[in-house]
Amino acid sequence: MRRYRCFTPTVLLLQSFFAIIANAVSIAEIQGPAFQSPLLGQVVRNATGIVTAKDRYGFWLQGEPSSDPRISNGLRVYAPGLAHQTDVGHLLSLSGRVSEHRQNNRPNDLFLTELIAPFDLFIHSVDHPVIPLIIGRESGYAPPLAKASALDEGTEGWLSVPNNVTLLESVNATLQPDKYGLDFWESLEGNLVTIVNPTTSNFPDMFGSLWVYGDWDVNGRNERGGLTLTSVDGLPDAHPGVILIGRPLDGTRNPKEPIGSILSNITGVVTYQFGYYSILPLTAPSVMTESDPDISPVSFSASEEPCELTIGDYNVENMSPRSRHIPLVAKHVVEYLKLPDILFLQEIQSDSGSRNNGVVTANRTLATFVKAISNTASEHFSSNSPPFKYEFVNIPPEDNMDGGKPGSNIRVAYLWNPNKVSLVPGHITGNATQAVEVVKSDKGELSLSYNPGRVHPTHEAWEETRKPLAAAWQTSTGSRFFTVNVHLSSKRFGSSPHGDARPPVNGRIERRTQQVNVTADFVESVLSQDVNASIILAGDMNDFVQTRSVFQSLTNLLTDINDASAVDPVERYTYVYEQHMQEIDHMFVSDAIVNRGTKVEHIHVNTWARSTSERASDHDPTVAKVWVCDNPSNTKDSERPFLPGLTAPLVIQNPHGLIY
Ligand SMILES: *[C@@H]1O[C@H](CO)[C@@H](O)[C@H](O)[C@H]1NC(C)=O
Ligand SMILES: *[C@@H]1O[C@H](CO)[C@@H](O)[C@H](O)[C@H]1NC(C)=O
Ligand SMILES: *[C@@H]1O[C@H](CO)[C@@H](O)[C@H](O)[C@H]1NC(C)=O
Ligand SMILES: *[C@@H]1O[C@H](CO)[C@@H](O)[C@H](O)[C@H]1NC(C)=O
Ligand SMILES: *[C@@H]1O[C@H](CO)[C@@H](O)[C@H](O)[C@H]1NC(C)=O
Ligand SMILES: *[C@@H]1O[C@H](CO)[C@@H](O)[C@H](O)[C@H]1NC(C)=O
Ligand SMILES: *[C@@H]1O[C@H](CO)[C@@H](O)[C@H](O)[C@H]1NC(C)=O
Ligand SMILES: *[C@@H]1O[C@H](CO)[C@@H](O)[C@H](O)[C@H]1NC(C)=O
Repeated sequence: MRRYRCFTPTVLLLQSFFAIIANAVSIAEIQGPAFQSPLLGQVVRNATGIVTAKDRYGFWLQGEPSSDPRISNGLRVYAPGLAHQTDVGHLLSLSGRVSEHRQNNRPNDLFLTELIAPFDLFIHSVDHPVIPLIIGRESGYAPPLAKASALDEGTEGWLSVPNNVTLLESVNATLQPDKYGLDFWESLEGNLVTIVNPTTSNFPDMFGSLWVYGDWDVNGRNERGGLTLTSVDGLPDAHPGVILIGRPLDGTRNPKEPIGSILSNITGVVTYQFGYYSILPLTAPSVMTESDPDISPVSFSASEEPCELTIGDYNVENMSPRSRHIPLVAKHVVEYLKLPDILFLQEIQSDSGSRNNGVVTANRTLATFVKAISNTASEHFSSNSPPFKYEFVNIPPEDNMDGGKPGSNIRVAYLWNPNKVSLVPGHITGNATQAVEVVKSDKGELSLSYNPGRVHPTHEAWEETRKPLAAAWQTSTGSRFFTVNVHLSSKRFGSSPHGDARPPVNGRIERRTQQVNVTADFVESVLSQDVNASIILAGDMNDFVQTRSVFQSLTNLLTDINDASAVDPVERYTYVYEQHMQEIDHMFVSDAIVNRGTKVEHIHVNTWARSTSERASDHDPTVAKVWVCDNPSNTKDSERPFLPGLTAPLVIQNPHGLIY
């Protein structure tokens, strides 16, 4: 569909004005149809336009519009010395040099076209109305739906591997604003625009900037009002319409609103700063509708059926014995996760927190957390019920060998309800460097050589990162199952999705791919001994399943529990970053578990928080319900809370199941 920009009285005024001045350059000629100006480096004469906005360092001009939708008629004039002589509504002309500017010479930023070193400023008249270009449903002029750049080639779009194959500014392609988001915003560079009915889609960043999208069509909109990273026609959506709203030009402050809040229309100039296309609003928007503060707990509970387990997974963000967020995380575990039978944890720090003093044990951290959970749980049980107490296990890493903050020695750990499950006995806990292996008893039962034990901890894939922790478990009825708790390398050293490198750099993707492969080798070693083994692998994997190449070796063996449980793709998220709500914490299960039916819910205690400071962690926890026994000897099928293929309970016959 071809979109037309609206024409305004300003246009008519400028058109008649340009007829008068001969040899003058138009702003459209300075901008041109590509990423970089065709007049780069040249001194241009008598560029004319109306001042739409100003700051301490200069102002923005709007000139005669081009009939070519690729060409912007807005321009940044960098003129600290002239800013005080001009005002919004002035019709002026001036000469100067055309420059392509990279803020602080940041190498991966896109260039901003500017007029610098101006001279011959001539103010023709004042008090002209300044009329923004409306972006939204009403005007029909809106960002493209899914793709950021034509250069994001490959089977996984902007997540394709290899990364950084092309530099956008070197290609300097002519713009395709109806197809690609970066082209769309570039075609509006320097323009005054209005975003209609903006919805917040991330927390404000540390500078008070807001991520929003307007009332146009979007993909991946979730119940909260954020945009979940999903695939459209097999390609991951880049959400190119989500735009950063920078610091208001009049010195007001943007509101700090949770995700999914609706703000008043935002009018401002389109620019590029800190690695992102941004709009600098003339003034801060006000809040029209604040998102609902209610956060739902998991809809199902642990039960007394020995074979049916609830499994929680939670990255508790740098937890040490002195962490102030322990009571809040404990509250989440009791009230929102409803005390899962097994809890996979990531980011448990050593007993001395981030003091870099050689301490690697985390028993105090874990005992403090377990105590806080017991205390919170006791407030929910009647006084005559037995106290609830998790047991815990972890393997201390070698000092400063597993990444994270120096000295903190973060690691993964398990908590479990001993009334429900136990570690298969007879095997000692492994140490930091001992690799776990599958072993078979004389009776043909599978277990692990260390229980728990780390997965190939000396493999180069795990250099400076947390090693996975594998465990063999048994139910009170003697059925065995396996778990692997993972925390893969972060996306550190990644590049902005609005940056020069295309596709953007997915930081340390090679590491994660290799780490998944090593972990998958372990899973395969269990399945090769028993194709029907019950395996649950979960944790913070720091990547999206849409980056399929990372997960390939694992998805050949196990199934994403979201798929097994038919979770709506837009509700699959545990984290929010840049434009997207996204799932980087995953749970994968073996066929045996899939075939018995599963459930899973992501509990948005943190991504739905009122502000980042009210979060307990940057990640949301997840809770699943799985059936781990082959032959539920003491259970009739009809007593199972759910059957294969069903995602909701059939009959609820177990009055003991509920904690409350
Ligand atoms: C620029 O504008 C000034 C003042 O209006 C005029 O004298 C001059 O001839 C113009 N130059 C060009 C190249 O149009
Ligand atoms: C960018 O593309 C425009 C339009 O094709 C061209 O005029 C200009 O010279 C190019 N700039 C660079 C630096 O390649
Ligand atoms: C992308 O590759 C270029 C070399 O082609 C390199 O100079 C640049 O630093 C890389 N960008 C990032 C973000 O790694
Ligand atoms: C936002 O802008 C649209 C389009 O111009 C307009 O219809 C609407 O009334 C504006 N909303 C508010 C709250 O001003
Ligand atoms: C840590 O706690 C576990 C479980 O309670 C116990 O077996 C282990 O000996 C403790 N380790 C240290 C170093 O205290
Ligand atoms: C783990 O145990 C093995 C065998 O006892 C020992 O050689 C190794 O040094 C231990 N590793 C660590 C990190 O303690
Ligand atoms: C795995 O389970 C299926 C279905 O219960 C059964 O038919 C098959 O014999 C089992 N395979 C093995 C190797 O135990
Ligand atoms: C891991 O990678 C190796 C080497 O490429 C490959 O042989 C192996 O099959 C992979 N493991 C899995 C489980 O895919």
